[in-house]
Amino acid sequence: MLLTHAGWTVVTETLRPRRSCLAVPGSNPRFLEKAKGLDADQVFLDLEDSVAPLAKPAARANIVKALTEGGWGTKIRVVRVNDWTTQWTYRDVIEVVEGAGHDLDAIMLPKVQSADQVMALDTLLGQIEKTMGYEVGRIGIEAQIENARGLINVEAIAAASPRVETIIFGPADFMASINMKSLVVGEQPPGYDVGDAYHYILMRLLMAARAYDKQVIDGPYLQIRDGDGFRRVASRSAALGFDGKWVLHPDQVAAANEVFSPRQEDYEHAEDILDAYDWHTSEAGGQRGSAMLGDEMIDEASRKMALVVAAKGRAAGMTRSSRWSPPA
Ligand code: GLV
Ligand code: MG
Repeated sequence: MLLTHAGWTVVTETLRPRRSCLAVPGSNPRFLEKAKGLDADQVFLDLEDSVAPLAKPAARANIVKALTEGGWGTKIRVVRVNDWTTQWTYRDVIEVVEGAGHDLDAIMLPKVQSADQVMALDTLLGQIEKTMGYEVGRIGIEAQIENARGLINVEAIAAASPRVETIIFGPADFMASINMKSLVVGEQPPGYDVGDAYHYILMRLLMAARAYDKQVIDGPYLQIRDGDGFRRVASRSAALGFDGKWVLHPDQVAAANEVFSPRQEDYEHAEDILDAYDWHTSEAGGQRGSAMLGDEMIDEASRKMALVVAAKGRAAGMTRSSRWSPPA
């Protein structure tokens, strides 16, 4: 959960981590079962591009069965439906949500191009929730931005419904959409040697997400045997502020969980800043708005940065080895 606090977006202690978002084809019952035991923060059970058209009806039933049987622990459970330009979307949503609505946290909508596509899903979900007697508005929406039109409309998409929880980059479809001269998802296109070809896209998604208090997730890295490549690409979006990344293989899970958690020393430092600033601004600490923590000057802006790092660390289950204490 994200909260707007005094005009600033801060991550609260109740943040549900989405460091690793595991893709699982709905057409493969063995993978669905195996996913339950993996350490991913989120799973998304796919009805879209990893499932062949002829296999989609059976995949819907597999997904309902896998969700209602349970065993997912604390994972965020998401189903990716097909996009609104296909003939499958409405049946995907109705079958999955009617069949497993109590055992589902969000629907992922791919190839979102405009706010009204999010509103259409919001309306359909609302009708199903009322028909089935579910809590209205509980099921979230994850919006995948996968083409140029989606990117130019991303602010409106993020603001389209309170159900929107995440904005997700879909690099493979996006590269196709803009005619990028490369087939290797996430890596720099050969010939582009003056920076990061994805920087503009990542930053635009990040700004839209933060402006509307959403989480923002990086997409897949397809070279699943290249662990170093995965870490390198994941580290870039993590450094900018992204909350997590898709993982396509069990081997990528631990790396994503690590890369999208704060480093241990940063987490401990953030907690120290919070404790020290709390004390310095108090009556006992002299009601000072800026103060020294070791050799570092801290003020209200330091506290805001520390809140983000501390909240991400707490959500990831990190603990401190020692506590800051006021000068004797
Ligand atoms: C994911 O859906 C992608 O297109 O990269
Ligand atoms: Mg895609």
